[in-house]
Amino acid sequence: MPKILVATGGGDCPGLNAVIRGVVKASISEGGDYEIWGSIEAFNGILKEPAEIVPLSNNEVRGIHVKGGTIIKTTNRGNPLKFPIQNENGEWRTKNRVDELVSKIKDNGFDAVISIGGDGSQKISLALAEKGVNMVGVPKTIDNDLNATDLTFGFSTAVQIATDSFDKLVTTANSHNRVMIMEVMGRDAGWIALHTAIAGGAEICLIPEIPYDLNKVLEKINTRYHQGKGYVNVVIAEGAKLKNGSVVGSKASNVGDEHIKLGGIGNALRAQLEAEKCAYQVRTTILGHTQRGGTPIAFDRILATAMGVKAFKLVKAGDFGKMVSYKNNGLTAVTLQEAVASYNHVNLDHYLIETARALGISFGD
Ligand code: F6P
Repeated sequence: MPKILVATGGGDCPGLNAVIRGVVKASISEGGDYEIWGSIEAFNGILKEPAEIVPLSNNEVRGIHVKGGTIIKTTNRGNPLKFPIQNENGEWRTKNRVDELVSKIKDNGFDAVISIGGDGSQKISLALAEKGVNMVGVPKTIDNDLNATDLTFGFSTAVQIATDSFDKLVTTANSHNRVMIMEVMGRDAGWIALHTAIAGGAEICLIPEIPYDLNKVLEKINTRYHQGKGYVNVVIAEGAKLKNGSVVGSKASNVGDEHIKLGGIGNALRAQLEAEKCAYQVRTTILGHTQRGGTPIAFDRILATAMGVKAFKLVKAGDFGKMVSYKNNGLTAVTLQEAVASYNHVNLDHYLIETARALGISFGD
């Protein structure tokens, strides 16, 4: 009976469980001739001795499509290309464990691997595929920053969570005549901020793709007040920065997780406005990981489920070295090379930038 290993890698994202359920259910409806297993915490599970892997049958996946997180756990400290290892003296180094991982996958009898993850995870998928592993990728990121797919599951849930918070901040901004800054995720791409700004009706939207000019932000704020009365709601992506400035964040102390941990640009903007004698009270709310947690909205459950089913079908067809992709309102597959080739930045000609500008939303430019 063919064995498929499923792993979820990188930051979690609403919809991961729905993908896992989609894979398992599809395999059952195709006759149940497959064994599906999950590797705990991305590929860390299968790399362990003995392997930490769990069977995924109907029992394990029943009803999980509504649950946030991932039942097989995840990590962003498990890149087999740069795996963190602690020396006896306590110091950390990284090691390439790809060959070891390939052997573990084969020794445990797996015929194919479905890896659900973002850019980093699909680079790992590609490395494994190049070593002969039968790989299928499923794209995942709340940031929606993969270019090879028009949409990733989890993104719409993150936008909904951000919009719900934004709506709450509007009423309190109004009561106090305040400038309310809401910081959302979006490391290199401002999609969550842009969508939330339009959905919520922000006055200002600051995204990584358009470094902002503080004077323009102040100008926009001032147009919203009359004799001290008025309010402003700003959405700012964590990866936004001042013109000629840099992103706000710091390196995590954990070896093996190389990304700078962004966060704090909302507070930095408040400080910048106060330093420029902004006449109004400014407050900042940082949504952080709330955007990644909880129940996926219906749209993401559907997209994630369909992607899980598609991933299984690719395995069944022997169509390996591919990543599932949502294009033109349907599911297709792109090569793993294409999957990691480019990044989905907010294009400044995008119709939502045009929409936002037509609504009077300032990008601080
Ligand atoms: O890539 C998705 C994302 O949510 C980014 O927006 C954010 O910078 C990052 O993950 C944070 O991840 P973590 O806290 O898990 O390192």
